[in-house]
Amino acid sequence: MAEDLTINKGTKQEQYESLFPQIRGLLEGETDLVANLGNIAAALKEQFGWFWVGFYLVKDQELVLGPFQGPVACTRIRKGRGVCGTSWEKASTLIVPDVEKFPGHIACSSLSKSEIVVPVLRDNAVLGVLDVDSELPDQFDDTDKQWLEKIVALLSF
Ligand code: SME
Repeated sequence: MAEDLTINKGTKQEQYESLFPQIRGLLEGETDLVANLGNIAAALKEQFGWFWVGFYLVKDQELVLGPFQGPVACTRIRKGRGVCGTSWEKASTLIVPDVEKFPGHIACSSLSKSEIVVPVLRDNAVLGVLDVDSELPDQFDDTDKQWLEKIVALLSF
């Protein structure tokens, strides 16, 4: 596996097109979940420079903080709480252009302004979520949804 990322400076679509095969390469032949979650978070942070990128994993009926890149964050989130807990409950991706307008948003940092949360699914069960936060409003769209869903689908639990 390659251990250096090549950073693309093009459009968002071009950035994902360049990053996706590199992430697939990082995961190839590695079955350890923590190692793979850590590398996905690091690769996304390095390519896009987002404020916070990381995973929460379902453990004992809660989401528990997993590998991430960025400032320290809340460790446990209940089902239906905040953006992450709502994405878990609905088993679907949520795009939040303005976190202050999302009822029940959990402000791990007041610097976070927009967010996307993508569930990690296996056989329709949510095993965790990928959470990405930006310091700028309205940073996430269908391109992010499409590619981040493709990226988490590379994970095998
Ligand atoms: N804002 C999230 C909580 C996680 S942190 O942003 C890292 C939420 O409302 O679920």
